[in-house]
Amino acid sequence: MSEGGESGLAPVNPKAIPRRRLHTGATMPAVGLGTFGSDSVAPKDVAAAVRGAAEVGYRHFDCASVYGNEGVVGASLQEVIRSGIERAEIWVTSKLWNDKHGEKDVIASCRKSLADLRLDYLDLYLVHWPFPNFHPPGCDVSSRSPDAKPYVHGNYMKTWRKMEELVDLKLVRHIGTSNMTVSKLELVLRDARVKPAVNEMELHPHFQQPELFKFVVDNGVQPIGYCPLGSPGRPERDRTAEDTSPMEDPVVVAIAKRHGIHPAAVCIKWAVQRGQTPIPFSINPRNYTANLRAAAEDPLSADEMKAIAEIDRNCRLIKGQVFLWKDGQSWEDLWDVNGVITPP
Ligand SMILES: NC(=O)c1ccc[n+]([C@@H]2O[C@H](COP(=O)([O-])OP(=O)(O)OC[C@H]3O[C@@H](n4cnc5c(N)ncnc54)[C@H](OP(=O)(O)O)[C@@H]3O)[C@@H](O)[C@H]2O)c1
Repeated sequence: MSEGGESGLAPVNPKAIPRRRLHTGATMPAVGLGTFGSDSVAPKDVAAAVRGAAEVGYRHFDCASVYGNEGVVGASLQEVIRSGIERAEIWVTSKLWNDKHGEKDVIASCRKSLADLRLDYLDLYLVHWPFPNFHPPGCDVSSRSPDAKPYVHGNYMKTWRKMEELVDLKLVRHIGTSNMTVSKLELVLRDARVKPAVNEMELHPHFQQPELFKFVVDNGVQPIGYCPLGSPGRPERDRTAEDTSPMEDPVVVAIAKRHGIHPAAVCIKWAVQRGQTPIPFSINPRNYTANLRAAAEDPLSADEMKAIAEIDRNCRLIKGQVFLWKDGQSWEDLWDVNGVITPP
């Protein structure tokens, strides 16, 4: 691999990136590269970004079977490992898709991701959503599955038992949840034999989820933050007129000007310093290099961190409408906003 990477920018020393300690004692790089092309970026471009990102210092990759690119991402990971970066130095996450919650499907799905990613173990395997509802990739916001189902804790635990078996089989080192709420996680933490190591959740300056964030941290579960930049390239189905953009927030813009950096870098610094693990997506070498560098140098001041804490707008971007299971519901029903699991 070439000195300096495809970006032409100096690589970042992976040792300069903070790490998060998980309940097993293992540590995970506190910034990862997202690999969801938002239904618009070609798999080969995401795969090139994985290669380029490893070259400039990324050691954490957030994958999922539903992103439709694990095969080509796996070819890139293989090249990365063959180039001399040891498997143990990289952290790879994958996720179980919603139509594979069935007891017979979990282990087979994980094995498929492992084969596609050309790995013999995953560092982390997540249940992507707590709803066992299939919708086809690329569908629009009004798409509903005729077989849609709500969260039923007993069913989730059947899936979770299979996730636990993946740990016993040494196919995965850690298991975790994604898109959960406090009320659902309380039950999973109560009933799990192998505890979730992380919860992956939407986190950016306009959606800070303070209650869920505190809950997971207090329970020794690491928060991984998706859409850390406010996902400017997200699919049409995930856009509404009320959505706001953290990178355009005047407070973020002013801090960026003061540091002479892009607002994206401010979002990453805030995330890392707050204690979550952001997983920004980019296929642009300049952008992904800058995003990693943001975690390694020039931290925000306590006053800047406080100023960003105050611009939370409770603006959820990934609302999940396609997972609604009956007529007359609103997306808030997916998120237990009253502190209790929405009844079936
Ligand atoms: N668990 C879940 O349910 C879930 C849900 C959503 C996402 N995720 C994960 O989280 C990752 C990140 O979320 P996301 O991709 O939706 O949103 P994001 O990381 O907030 O935003 C990505 C967008 O920001 C642009 N960007 C990146 N760096 C930039 C920079 N330095 N300056 C300006 N623009 C920049 C990218 O464009 P360029 O390519 O042009 O740089 C891309 O369009 C996903 O890829 C996926 O791995 C997980």
